[in-house]
This record gives sequence, C-alpha cells and structure tokens, in this order.
Amino acid sequence: MRMYDVIVKKRDGGELTKEEIQFFVEGYTKGDIPDYQASALTMAIYFQGMTQEETATLTKAMVDSGETIDLSEIDGKKVDKHSTGGVGDKVTFIVGPLVASIGIPVAKMSGRGLGHTGGTLDKLESVKGLEIEMSKEKFIENVNKFKLAVAGQTGNLAPADKKLYALRDVTGTVNSLPLIAGSIMSKKIASGADSIVLDVKTGTGAFMKTLEDSEALAREMVNIGNNLGRKTVAVISDMNQPLGYEVGNANEIKEAAEILQGSPVEDLRTLSLEIASHMAVLAEKFPSYEDAYEALEANIENGKAFQSLRNLIEAQGGDVSMIDDLSKLPQAKYQVEVKADKDGFVSAIDAESIGVAAMYLGAGRATKDDEINHGVGITMKKKIGDSVKGGEPLVVLLSDDEQPEDSIQKVQQAYTISNEKVEKPTLIHNIIK
Ligand code: URA
Repeated sequence: MRMYDVIVKKRDGGELTKEEIQFFVEGYTKGDIPDYQASALTMAIYFQGMTQEETATLTKAMVDSGETIDLSEIDGKKVDKHSTGGVGDKVTFIVGPLVASIGIPVAKMSGRGLGHTGGTLDKLESVKGLEIEMSKEKFIENVNKFKLAVAGQTGNLAPADKKLYALRDVTGTVNSLPLIAGSIMSKKIASGADSIVLDVKTGTGAFMKTLEDSEALAREMVNIGNNLGRKTVAVISDMNQPLGYEVGNANEIKEAAEILQGSPVEDLRTLSLEIASHMAVLAEKFPSYEDAYEALEANIENGKAFQSLRNLIEAQGGDVSMIDDLSKLPQAKYQVEVKADKDGFVSAIDAESIGVAAMYLGAGRATKDDEINHGVGITMKKKIGDSVKGGEPLVVLLSDDEQPEDSIQKVQQAYTISNEKVEKPTLIHNIIK
C-alpha cells in the first residue's frame, strides 16, 4: 500500500478502508510515514470528512497504537467522565465523590492544564501533600477500597493521537469533527472504563462555540463509543459564562467541597447531579435517571458524598484538615474588586476572557513549564441575568499582586451590561445517547 494513494482517495472524497486507516496510523506512529504526508491526509479529512465507520476505525487504530489500561481487577462497572473543557469547570471534584458514594468505582486518569486555569491534577494539588503520581497497583487498590482515585496518566496511551494532535495543531487541521472526536475518544477508550459520560461544553468559553457544532461533536463521540463497545452518553452544557462562581485552583476545590456539603450554587450543583445520574445509570446501579438523581441528592444531604471526597484526599496523602476547614486552603495576598461602571443587567460574560484573566494572575499556564499559583483566581460576583449597580463588584480578583492591571482590564472587557433584563442562559441544552 502507498500513502500517496490513501491521500488521493480521501482528497477525492472516497471512503477509506480499515486496512488503509490502520496502515496510516501504524506507519505514522512508527515514523515510516513522514509529517508532510500525514498533514496532507489530515487536510483531506478536514475537507472531506469521515463516515462513522471510518471515524471508529481511526479511533480504534489510535487506541491500539499504545498501551491500554486494564481495569478488570476493579470490581463492578467502571464509568468515566470527560469534559471538553470550560472555565470554572470543577465538576470532576463533585461527580467523582458523588458517584463513588453510591458504590460505583471511579478510576480517573487526568491531565494538567495549559491555558486558562490548571487542569484537574493542578487543582487537586491545592491540597497540601496530595499525591497524584501512583503505581498502577496502588491506583487499583484505592479504587477497590474507596471507589475513587484520581491519578496522572500513566503509560503510553494513544501515542498516535499525541503525534497527530501536535501535527494538526501546526497545520490548521485541529478543527475537524472526526479528528477531534477520534482524538478525545482514543484517550478515553485507552483508559479502560466500561462506559463514558461526556460533558460537551458549548458557548463563548468552550472549544465549540455554537450549539450546532457542539451537538455534532457529541454525536460523533457517542457514535465512536457505542461502535467500540463503550456505552456513551453526552450532556451538552452551557459555557457562555464560567460554571459556578470560582475560577482558579484552590478556590475551585473549595466551591466543589461546598457543593458536596449542600451549597445551592445552582448551575454547578445541577450539572454535577445530571452527569453523576447518567454515570449511575450507565453503571447499571439504578434503573432510571430519576432514581439515580434522588439517591445522589440524598448522599449530599446525609454527608456521604462529602465523606467520599475526604476519603480521596486521605487515601492520596492530602491534608484533610484543609477540606474540613476550607480557609486553610492556599489563599492569595489581596482581594481586588473589579467594579461595574454603570447600572443595568449583566447580559454577556466572555468566559474565555475570565479564564485568561485568571491565567494572568498565575492560576494557569501560558507555557508548559509555568508554575501554578494555587491561591490566586477569580470569584464571580455577578453572572448573566443579574442586576448590577454602578460601583458594585462584578468579580473579586484573588491576587498576589496589589494592582493586577492586565487581569482588571480583561475582566472589564469580558462583561457586557445592558439596560434590559436578560434571562439566565439554559444550562443543559441537550442529552445525546
Ligand atoms: N482535545 C483533544 O484531546 N483532541 C482534539 O483534537 C481537540 C481537543
């Protein structure tokens, strides 16, 4: 087989066979196929698309390019959760303990963040002593014992995706639905769970800005999951403003811990319960979504969900007293208010700009080697639909700098205040099964 023929076939709108896709993925991973031919093919895919079958085959080939995690030593059905990424997204810290508290094993492999705020692991490391690197044996032991472990990715999962994603990043071919869907799902499938709940974000702070694109991506990913024997459900959730009120690291852990103790922050609590309920149904723990929702809510009220977060922290060597007394979490030196310059209603918040403002404070990484400052971040005081008076704070910057000018400016640009009252955005746009 010649790579040239594979490229030309796709360029002209043909459907690639399983053998052709495997030939490409294997050859590219090994280095037999050069970058220029791989980029020609990804560009052809960008314009011509892929059928569901081609996308599933591509994903499977990327899974097979490296190691896969065998979770068979963990009792029960394993459910994973993945978010396409948003500002203030601390749902994992709520959903993990919640789902574990009803006896479903959650074996979560996570990453670090590049961009707005830290990733899941960075945020967790706000808790002193918490260890996210652990042996596979310890990871499995913790999940069997406490139903929950969160660890850095071990092993060489989907190396074909790693190489291809880096190539797409510099050749203008990231934004192709089958390639994005295959990329995300290859890593999820290699991580070993039996079923997957996807939180596909839509809006200004999301990878996909329109509902139509978000739904199309969700459909692609659900199809891949189901095609490869993993039951998959996607929740399309709003990211036109940060989720909850906290954006950063330690302050996000604090907000998550408060939700597990019954705090009523509406969007964050509702979305967490929604995702956790789908996970519970996929794990076959409850016959219906409604039964699952009720049981999960009960575990917030009776303290079991919060206890499950404590177990996670303790099992991974973290200082639990920081969770029992949230004021012990890292704190920034200053609280700087950014105020509204007129009366009105918050009609829009550019979530991405809020994320960037948090990054300027030190909550995220601009480059791979930057250190995260766990104590800094942003507390939102006004969200879409809220009324505001001139001079009232829109946000509080948690900053180690007394006058963080760049962040102040970024937040001011992020808010739109209008004269007319605006409805709160819909939180959950669609569920795709
Ligand atoms: N995230 C991924 O992991 N892959 C993509 O292609 C896009 C976003």
